[in-house]
Amino acid sequence: MSKKFNPANAIQDLKQFGEFGGVNPSITDSATFTFLDEQTMIDTFHGKAEGCFLYSRHWNPSNKYLAQAMAALEGTESAWVTSSGMAAITTTLLQLCNSGDHIVTSVTTYGGTYAFLANYLKKFNIEVSFVNISDLESVKAALRPNTKVLYTESMTNPMLQISNIPELARLTGDNGTKLVVDNTFTPMIISPFQLGADIVVYSMTKFINGKNDCVAGAICADADFINAISDVNDGTAMLLGPVLDPLRSSGILKNLSTLHIRMQKHSSNAMFIAKHFEETRLKFIYPGLPSHPDYELMKSLMNPDYGFGGMIAIDLDTAERAAPFMEMMQEKGIGYHAVSLGYFKTLFSNSGKSTSSEVPEEIQKKMGLSPGLIRFSVGLDQDIERTFQWIKECLVELKYI
Ligand SMILES: Cc1ncc(COP(=O)(O)O)c(C=O)c1O
Repeated sequence: MSKKFNPANAIQDLKQFGEFGGVNPSITDSATFTFLDEQTMIDTFHGKAEGCFLYSRHWNPSNKYLAQAMAALEGTESAWVTSSGMAAITTTLLQLCNSGDHIVTSVTTYGGTYAFLANYLKKFNIEVSFVNISDLESVKAALRPNTKVLYTESMTNPMLQISNIPELARLTGDNGTKLVVDNTFTPMIISPFQLGADIVVYSMTKFINGKNDCVAGAICADADFINAISDVNDGTAMLLGPVLDPLRSSGILKNLSTLHIRMQKHSSNAMFIAKHFEETRLKFIYPGLPSHPDYELMKSLMNPDYGFGGMIAIDLDTAERAAPFMEMMQEKGIGYHAVSLGYFKTLFSNSGKSTSSEVPEEIQKKMGLSPGLIRFSVGLDQDIERTFQWIKECLVELKYI
């Protein structure tokens, strides 16, 4: 009987020592590496020598450890770590697509991803079709013989739709279209590769690192793809050079070992707040409650132990109503009025005015993104009841409830 995939066990089971027996691997403080003989250097440049490092833009030991851990997290053969989440996404897409190719993507994605797909890829003559990823018929209809990528986020930013990864994988089938899934919102909770995705990308800036002290990303895939992006002759990662600094790699690696506990706490805190939002009759989105259209789907896809995630959105209808609420919440100490997510403190921002501002207003409207939508990344507060009381006080003071 096949054992169920458990990402936390996979991280725990890693045995990565420093070369002097340090329980944490040593940090690689070198851009370049020495070779004892010329032939090994030549072989390494031709990809024929195992275990040698040649230059840190290509690979370095600290990044290798973190990449191994990210591969373990997803259960992929290999991984590569990048200097940002956007670097992971753009490297992957530029590696997979040539001029004249076509991408089908969820219209609801992180604003930077949307901008890259809608605006930037034009210069390479790569066409992009934007679809409602929950409407599988429209996804199917958008696929063409030259579609190289079907792109989505496991839990979309900021609408918190859940992508039906197994069905999307079925649609791409064996016709050469790669299913690329951004799992930034749901590490450990959803394991896209296990569900049929070909490549999983991350902004590690968020939950993976959890400290908001650096920007980083990862690409998890089979060894052929990771070797291809790091090929010295034509690999997108090697040639565009979005390498992660090894000092940052080593910090993120240590934070991965607490990810399961953090995800559980983010999720239980978000669930508490969502249940209380429900009582206020405010409009809100949380996939962990039956009121969410993808609740059953999420239950069928998720790993059992990490909850439904730390992301909630509430809809106050207009930006003018959202602004004083966010300012008051920051003043009361509920969290920070800031973009990004996965931090130990609660972060909130008006998506349409910030992380989705790249999406034109008429498309925001079409995807159901209200101008008053506030996205919350719920923090690790020990006393979440106290936090909710403060949120409620803000809502009452502003006469919203
Ligand atoms: C879902 C998602 N993917 C990717 C990114 C981009 O990541 P980074 O800011 O690390 O480049 C973000 C950033 O907010 C995001 O929310």
